Amino acid sequence: MYLLQYFQLLILLLAKSSLGDKKIPENFLLGSATASYQIEGAWNEDGKGESMWDWFMHSRNSTKNGDVACDSYHKWKEDIENVKALGLDFYRISISWPRILPNGTLSSINQKGIDYYMNIFKALKEANIEPMVTLYHWDMPEHIHQLGGFLNPQFVDYFEDYARLMYKLFAPYVKYWFTINEPTLICTYGYGYGIMAPGLTLIGDGIYQCGYVLLKAHAKAYRVYDEEFRAKYQGQVGLVFSFDWVEPYTNSTFDIEAQQRYLEFQLGWWANPVFIGNWPQIMIERIANRSKLEGLARSRLPEFSQQEIDYIKGTYDFFALNTYNVGQVRFLDEPDIGTPSYLADQSVTSVLDDNFYHPEGIRMLMNYIWTKYNPKGILITENGKRTTDKLQDTERISLIRDYLSQIIDAKTEDGINILGYSVWSLMDNFEWGSYKDKYGIIRVDFDSPDRTRTWKDSAHWFKNLTTNRVLDV
Ligand SMILES: *[C@@H]1O[C@H](CO)[C@@H](O)[C@H](O)[C@H]1NC(C)=O
Ligand SMILES: *[C@@H]1O[C@H](CO)[C@@H](O)[C@H](O)[C@H]1NC(C)=O
Ligand SMILES: *[C@@H]1O[C@H](CO)[C@@H](O)[C@H](O)[C@H]1NC(C)=O
Ligand SMILES: *[C@@H]1O[C@H](CO)[C@@H](O)[C@H](O)[C@H]1NC(C)=O
Ligand SMILES: *[C@@H]1O[C@H](CO)[C@@H](O)[C@H](O)[C@H]1NC(C)=O
Repeated sequence: MYLLQYFQLLILLLAKSSLGDKKIPENFLLGSATASYQIEGAWNEDGKGESMWDWFMHSRNSTKNGDVACDSYHKWKEDIENVKALGLDFYRISISWPRILPNGTLSSINQKGIDYYMNIFKALKEANIEPMVTLYHWDMPEHIHQLGGFLNPQFVDYFEDYARLMYKLFAPYVKYWFTINEPTLICTYGYGYGIMAPGLTLIGDGIYQCGYVLLKAHAKAYRVYDEEFRAKYQGQVGLVFSFDWVEPYTNSTFDIEAQQRYLEFQLGWWANPVFIGNWPQIMIERIANRSKLEGLARSRLPEFSQQEIDYIKGTYDFFALNTYNVGQVRFLDEPDIGTPSYLADQSVTSVLDDNFYHPEGIRMLMNYIWTKYNPKGILITENGKRTTDKLQDTERISLIRDYLSQIIDAKTEDGINILGYSVWSLMDNFEWGSYKDKYGIIRVDFDSPDRTRTWKDSAHWFKNLTTNRVLDV
């Protein structure tokens, strides 16, 4: 009896150690991410120009802003020490466009801004850590915003000049480039709902104009690298998409149709032009139909010329994705013609249920992207969890473990070429309006002038992961 129990326990333990430990494949990169406005501070130091976010927060007289943030402009060495100590394969940062080009244009170039990023890239290279760099993570030079930002087709030229300069300066150090971070949020929150800078509420048309200009700017920055730098530096360039997988609320054909529509409006809006060519047909048709009923002479969704379609198509070396949750959607009856809006065009309801936790949805998303868009590789550029301010962040560890486990399965069992995974974020930072939302694996004390950094449990856990490269599922 006793012996039998002992054997049962042994078998249980053996089963657990063989089934329960998941090896991180050798060619799978582990890293962490931040963004300039969220961590740097020093908003008007050493020749930096004003950004649209500086202007946006200051115009609201908000005491919570990015003026100091994590003070990473002064504390970058400590941040790199943390990146090293965590054993990361890569560190994803963004460049503040106005720190290098105060006006956004080549009219003046700020050497101190160049030095700041050059020092970071050199330090990372010395430590054998791959820098990954986002050119546009939302802090547009205020001057470019005043010229219309993403509503001005000339934005493409300004972005081209900036991108080319960045490649010229940093291509010897940087092999992974991201043109623009999260177009959905830029155009909906920034130009549609007015929640984020520049705070415009053009939900019926401005958001589509934003998308039209944004995709052309991305494509231009991709092609500049492709034509002028790739042969020499062998780097890779892509757009960072953001999408959370959704499941249909029921298996009714209506809800399944809602899921498909949601996928096209949220992800296909960007991924179709880049991978397949042109906007998704359902967007083209639905917006054209509703525009017509609204009495308009043309669709609120701008039409790409064939030349533009060909120019944008194929501008990727990988599929970079920020993804945080898995949700549900329901069918919504066709809204009446009235005030034009993105939501009415889409006609889908998101179901918000805090108890719905389906990390396996990310594996479905990997399969969906792999099958539909046939990218060369997928890179998870952000995933993470918002918590309160505490060092014992077990729910963050659980989420990273659950999601990563699904991602590894998608790679090893489904044969999808997933290149790596990046935690958002290296440290708590300014989450676009608030310091209350904590996403860091390292805590930052925003009440202290030193912005003291302290490792949370998740940082220790992640270090163990990069050291042993085994996931304890
Ligand atoms: C911000 O403060 C300035 C100066 O005190 C004031 O003129 C302005 O109306 C304020 N703006 C808001 C949005 O509160
Ligand atoms: C930016 O442009 C404005 C207006 O043209 C000019 O007054 C200002 O001096 C410029 N600033 C820099 C840093 O070039
Ligand atoms: C829909 O069908 C699938 C496959 O049969 C099943 O796994 C899933 O639980 C169903 N979803 C709902 C909401 O009923
Ligand atoms: C758009 O309108 C046409 C003509 O009325 C109709 O045939 C088509 O089904 C509509 N498309 C969508 C996606 O609603
Ligand atoms: C480190 O990870 C291994 C493998 O998942 C696990 O067995 C071990 O308990 C972890 N160590 C610590 C200190 O968390």
